[in-house]
Amino acid sequence: MKLLITGGAGFIGSNFILFMLEHHPDYDIINLDKLTYAGNLENLVSAAGSRHYTFIRGDIADAKLVHDILDTRVDAVINFAAESHVDRSILEPAAFITTNILGTQILLDCAREKRVGRFIQISTDEVYGSLGPSGRFSETTCLHPNSPYSASKASADMIAHAYYETFGMPVMITRTSNNYGPYQFPEKLLPLAVTNLLEDRPVPIYGDGMNVRDWIFVTDNAEAIDLVLHKGKEGEVYNIGAGYESTNKALIDSVLRLMGKPESLITYVKDRPGHDRRYAIDPSKIINELGWSPRTSLDQGLKATIDWYSTHRAWWDRIKSGEYLAYYEKNYAVKGLKGY
Ligand SMILES: NC(=O)c1ccc[n+]([C@@H]2O[C@H](COP(=O)([O-])OP(=O)(O)OC[C@H]3O[C@@H](n4cnc5c(N)ncnc54)[C@H](O)[C@@H]3O)[C@@H](O)[C@H]2O)c1
Repeated sequence: MKLLITGGAGFIGSNFILFMLEHHPDYDIINLDKLTYAGNLENLVSAAGSRHYTFIRGDIADAKLVHDILDTRVDAVINFAAESHVDRSILEPAAFITTNILGTQILLDCAREKRVGRFIQISTDEVYGSLGPSGRFSETTCLHPNSPYSASKASADMIAHAYYETFGMPVMITRTSNNYGPYQFPEKLLPLAVTNLLEDRPVPIYGDGMNVRDWIFVTDNAEAIDLVLHKGKEGEVYNIGAGYESTNKALIDSVLRLMGKPESLITYVKDRPGHDRRYAIDPSKIINELGWSPRTSLDQGLKATIDWYSTHRAWWDRIKSGEYLAYYEKNYAVKGLKGY
């Protein structure tokens, strides 16, 4: 099989590429990535030497480039490329609309024209909006996005589904809960906490810390996407979640415990506007229909993640010393976090 993976230099995309090279060593993989602030080719150093892996720097919204790539007889497109951080979508929504909506539509158009055999749109549980204290999102839950990020992802989902209904395109959509693991950019909660704690710096938590997320280790998500690629039914949505619900506060408490750090390093900061209270995924469909199940418990995954950041300091040091510093100070402009 020959795959076009977009956004493969980001967190989940790079983990997915490494997973596929390991589990399908005869597949050819093209990684198309614009290398925004979130794209990092250092994630793929171990893939770079493989004759089955090609990197192309470019934009999914560049139709000519995407056509040229698809002309090389690509069997499937897996679209990870996105602006992915909710906080950034609140500060500057425009890029989210351009990449997440327009970019996806251009990619769909190109894939349709070249009759690509499979198109997987990588989406998020955030498109469903916020839950009360009980219940879980199923694939038939109405979409109710609340941030510019989730609204742009919901729009892309609807366009992708429309291409299935209208043009008979072989589109599938995956909606996954919060991923964590190696190579996650240290602006997201877990890598931010772990890297700050490794430096004995404070960990910012939004609001009262009681927002609930459903956590999945990134390689479990990679395995689920691999299954959807091979066994998924055209036109279907698959929820992917491992069933590890936790408040942000409880999650950070676990990290503090595992790292042997004091609770006094937690700093509560002003809540994110429109912050969804609770997400929880019902993954029964992918479990029952495709035979998927998560392998990594939250405790195992947290240990592996802490271990990875502890032993890859050069990776995140380079990120934290650059453009990210200015963004961090703008976003978490609170006393007590100076110099984080
Ligand atoms: N991180 C999560 O917990 C999570 C959960 C559910 C779904 N998702 C979805 O999974 C996908 C990947 O998320 P992530 O956390 O790896 O994101 P990320 O921000 O780490 O990576 C995104 C990648 O896309 C690239 N990119 C951005 N705009 C592009 C463009 N116009 N053309 C080509 N490449 C472009 C970036 O350079 C980067 O490498 C996204 O679609 C996201 O919505 C993420």
